[in-house]
Amino acid sequence: MIEANTTARLRAEVAALRAQGKRIAFVPTMGNLHAGHRRLMEEARKYADAVVVSIYVNPLQFGPKEDFASYPRTPAQDHALLGDVGVDLLFAPGEREIYPRGRERQTQVEVPQLGQILCGAFRPGHFRGVTTVVARLFQLVTPDVAIFGKKDYQQLLMIRLMVSDLGMPIEIIGIDTVREPDGLALSSRNSYLSADERRTAPILYKTLGRVRDRMRQGVARAAAEEGALTELRAAGWRPDYVSVRRANDLGEPEEGDKSLIVLTAAWLGRTRLIDNLEFQA
Ligand code: PAJ
Repeated sequence: MIEANTTARLRAEVAALRAQGKRIAFVPTMGNLHAGHRRLMEEARKYADAVVVSIYVNPLQFGPKEDFASYPRTPAQDHALLGDVGVDLLFAPGEREIYPRGRERQTQVEVPQLGQILCGAFRPGHFRGVTTVVARLFQLVTPDVAIFGKKDYQQLLMIRLMVSDLGMPIEIIGIDTVREPDGLALSSRNSYLSADERRTAPILYKTLGRVRDRMRQGVARAAAEEGALTELRAAGWRPDYVSVRRANDLGEPEEGDKSLIVLTAAWLGRTRLIDNLEFQA
């Protein structure tokens, strides 16, 4: 595997891949790689001849009181996984490579509306930070296809809108969430959980399953959401939201909408976890 730590080196390596006529798939990450990230890289391989992965903990997408400083950074472990998967090129830049004029002066990319609901309402500026860094990474890597997890469903939809709105010639692929055997979605933030919290954590996904079941039994959307909030609070969580939405655009479902998704973000102690479940009404 080739590692580029500067944009200049990255561009040279991408040019070399292009000169060999290779199609490029790109998987952006913040590192601390786990089996969810790994699945994305394995899928990427199916769409292209060369797989490029970036590892960059993006300060722009963390709020002032969030976990940017403590976010897990595990470069040695990440290198082993990337080598094992057979990734062709790793881009692991420092901040000056991504925001050369300083993050405060960086041109930003914002998707309105979708960026303001659900997680966007609880993490002001978060999605603007995500779309800004992904737009910049896309310009640097110039992939044919980019792979994102449905675990971050709202993020995936925002990237699709950004690519469409800005006319970026990149195909966006969404990949199903990889879970622990007990249902907990793999996440770098799971490492923040105490042993007790880890035992409680699978309740989040189980609660989503109950919302789906109740909706299918004809329970009204608001009642199903309220029931889930009550159950989570009773189990020691502090939910930000539980919300049933249309799967294609995260709009409020209307009579007759069949493809739905229930999404949640909830705090367990000092850890904020997100999850979602797509279903047919
Ligand atoms: P990160 O949280 O590292 O996630 C990188 C990619 O892995 C995202 O597309 C995410 O949806 C996917 N992913 C995470 N956990 C997953 C799981 N359990 N199953 C399947 N896919 C999973 O998301 C980000 O980084 C950042 O916001 C980024 C897009 C890199 C921009 O900074």
